[in-house]
Amino acid sequence: MALIAKKIKGTEDILPRDSYKWQFVEKILSDEARVYGFSEIRTPVFEQTKLFQRGVGEGTDVVQKEMYTFETKGGESLTLRPEGTAGAARALLEHGLYNDGLPIKAHYFTTCYRYEKPQAGRQREFHQFGMEVYGASDPIADAELICAAKSIFDRLGLFNIHLEINSIGCPECRKNYHKALKEYFSQYTDTLCGTCLSRLEKNPMRILDCKSPVCKEIAQNAPKITDFLCEDCDNHFKKVQQYLTAADVAFTVNSSIVRGLDYYTNTVFEFISDNIGAQSTVCGGGRYNGLMEELGGQPLASLGFAIGLERLLMVMDAEGIEIPKPETDMLYIAALGDKAQLKAFELVRTVRETGLGAQFDIVGRGLKAQMKYANKIGAKYSIVLGDNEIEEGKAILKNMESGNQTEVSIDDANIFIENLLAADLSDAVSFTE
Ligand code: HAM
Repeated sequence: MALIAKKIKGTEDILPRDSYKWQFVEKILSDEARVYGFSEIRTPVFEQTKLFQRGVGEGTDVVQKEMYTFETKGGESLTLRPEGTAGAARALLEHGLYNDGLPIKAHYFTTCYRYEKPQAGRQREFHQFGMEVYGASDPIADAELICAAKSIFDRLGLFNIHLEINSIGCPECRKNYHKALKEYFSQYTDTLCGTCLSRLEKNPMRILDCKSPVCKEIAQNAPKITDFLCEDCDNHFKKVQQYLTAADVAFTVNSSIVRGLDYYTNTVFEFISDNIGAQSTVCGGGRYNGLMEELGGQPLASLGFAIGLERLLMVMDAEGIEIPKPETDMLYIAALGDKAQLKAFELVRTVRETGLGAQFDIVGRGLKAQMKYANKIGAKYSIVLGDNEIEEGKAILKNMESGNQTEVSIDDANIFIENLLAADLSDAVSFTE
């Protein structure tokens, strides 16, 4: 029989056998967010299209080519979020969170949607973990945020990811820079790709981001933004570097990092891995001091980053970092006969009330098949119930790994649990651990 539907190109299923890896990483990410004082924000998966047009920027690839935009039955244009920053900023403004005392620190786990050509590390639906800080203009905030990202990689044991930073200044510095870039790239109108030709007028900085080898080569000798920074922006960038050095965070300044989204100002940064191929940026972020005004709010100096979780897991895999499989405390109660099955049904519920895992047969298998299933699911302990056990009110509790066993009472639920918790059957993990 042919399946009537398949997963959509560029999307992935995270299967039960792999989800522990995601949970492991997510736990470390939220722990790190907690120690840095961030609280979670959750925003809708779709937003009004104009939020991204204005927020991310009309001239970006994301808005021009990659958004999943649709019209509702009511005729409104909505878009599946291509990233998390714009939605979080919208929520902050809409709920007046800036009145709660600044800075506000929010983190999120989101799915994002971009209609890009799928390849290793590039999907159409992907997951991001992001951290955003609102209401902090001092360069020490940039350094602190970068430290947060760095400590995530450190805690995951990823020491081969390098940090590249740049400053793209404020709109004032960029006016002169755009002029210089236009002059420079205008010499190459015969060779630049079609997309870059259209970027030349509106947003020449995007040319620095072009993946075409020809444009890349031309861009190598382009004027550098760092030579066009105004005094304030230059000082800001220098201080960020000083703080990073003081915090022992290694970095290189890479003037070609301009980021693909329009909201950035001043500091931009990327964490890059050499181990996962072309899609090597695991984390990207920076300052976006103008975004709140762009969205109709008061000016609010802000900054943040997002880590792509698929890429993060790819790097962990490439670097041979083994994610520990969670220890199971599962008790499997195999039962034969109606009375035994009913007893098993009662006992598993009692066990679960204590917070321990317990399962029994719910598909009517024979004893042998039940034990096979118990092995398959990695049950740590087992009990077999038959007529004898029911009659005597006792059963054998067995550690499936070590083979150690002990007798437990099954007549009284409280005594059963007492016996269970007292049983020290394990050579590794005991029930009470
Ligand atoms: P971004 O650089 O577009 O920035 O994305 C951040 C990260 O998401 C990338 O470094 C990458 O790991 C992952 N990513 C992006 N596109 C894909 C894709 N198609 N497939 C798989 N992973 C992908 C942002 O989204 C900004 N909102 C980051 C930010 C937060 N800036 C300030 N605050």
